Amino acid sequence: MKRDFLTIADMSGDEVVQTIRYALELKKRRQTGQFRTANGKLEGMTVGCIFHKASLRTRISFETGIYELGGKSLYITKDEIDLGKRESIEDAARVLSRYLGMIVIRTFSHSDVEKLAKHASVPVINALTDYTHPCQVMGDLLTVQERFDKIEGMKVTYLGDGNNLANSWMVAARRIKLDLTIGTSEETMPKMDLFNTVKEEGLSRIRIVHDPVEAVEGAQVVYTDVWASMGQKDKAAERVKLLSAFQVNEKLLQHADPNHIVLHCLPAERGREITNEVMDGPHSAVFDQAENRLHIQKAIMSRLMEWSG
Ligand code: CP
Ligand code: NVA
Repeated sequence: MKRDFLTIADMSGDEVVQTIRYALELKKRRQTGQFRTANGKLEGMTVGCIFHKASLRTRISFETGIYELGGKSLYITKDEIDLGKRESIEDAARVLSRYLGMIVIRTFSHSDVEKLAKHASVPVINALTDYTHPCQVMGDLLTVQERFDKIEGMKVTYLGDGNNLANSWMVAARRIKLDLTIGTSEETMPKMDLFNTVKEEGLSRIRIVHDPVEAVEGAQVVYTDVWASMGQKDKAAERVKLLSAFQVNEKLLQHADPNHIVLHCLPAERGREITNEVMDGPHSAVFDQAENRLHIQKAIMSRLMEWSG
């Protein structure tokens, strides 16, 4: 039975932990010059990377990772296959599965990715939808593990737009015990059905607050993202008004735990959701975080190949 990775909830808590451990191992090996590791899990395979949105980190870390796992990547933009327009997603999924060993997709609609995964016979990985960005937060958990030598019970505060990254942290909280706070305005809330699921399941503590100081009080991990995501840039001016109080700046961070780290998935709009001082300051882990995308995605791809049998 093939396995997909569309949200972090597609893995059990144990699988999340194992995948992070494996990524750490791959990272260590790579630092000693062993690039082509993980037993060539994609040897001889082509992985289709469908991108309907721009990308620096995700595209390049996936393509690099695929190469390092012994495979070949194929970058496919809207212009080539026009997924769901030129032919149905179901038909495209069936045909792509006859050629490819795995599909990585970044697009707008999460249900399109679910449809693709349902009808593809090869593993499908979500490389960002409007709903969630699971590879990002898996890499972020790896960064937290490296910096604090633990993840469980960590006090994580997400500040800013209730977008795909806020949702991804909520999904992570369904699998790993976290103390998660989302600080945002009443107009920019994340998915509330997901919030209620996390609350009902009870593994993690979760709350949404509208006061930035209260949100950041004692936080060990302070996370932010752009206030207007891809496809919503027309809302940028309105979001500045709604979210300015949630800017990650030195003044606000005085309320965080003294040993906190600051994370941002990038790309950042410096001077908006995060200041230069913080982004380049001693608490910032944003470039380790970006690097970790490569290691975690190698681990995710290897594990999916293994679990898919
Ligand atoms: N963080 C992230 O996914 O970056 P890209 O949009 O550049 O891929
Ligand atoms: N929330 C952002 C994340 C980019 C990596 C977006 O969807 O544009």
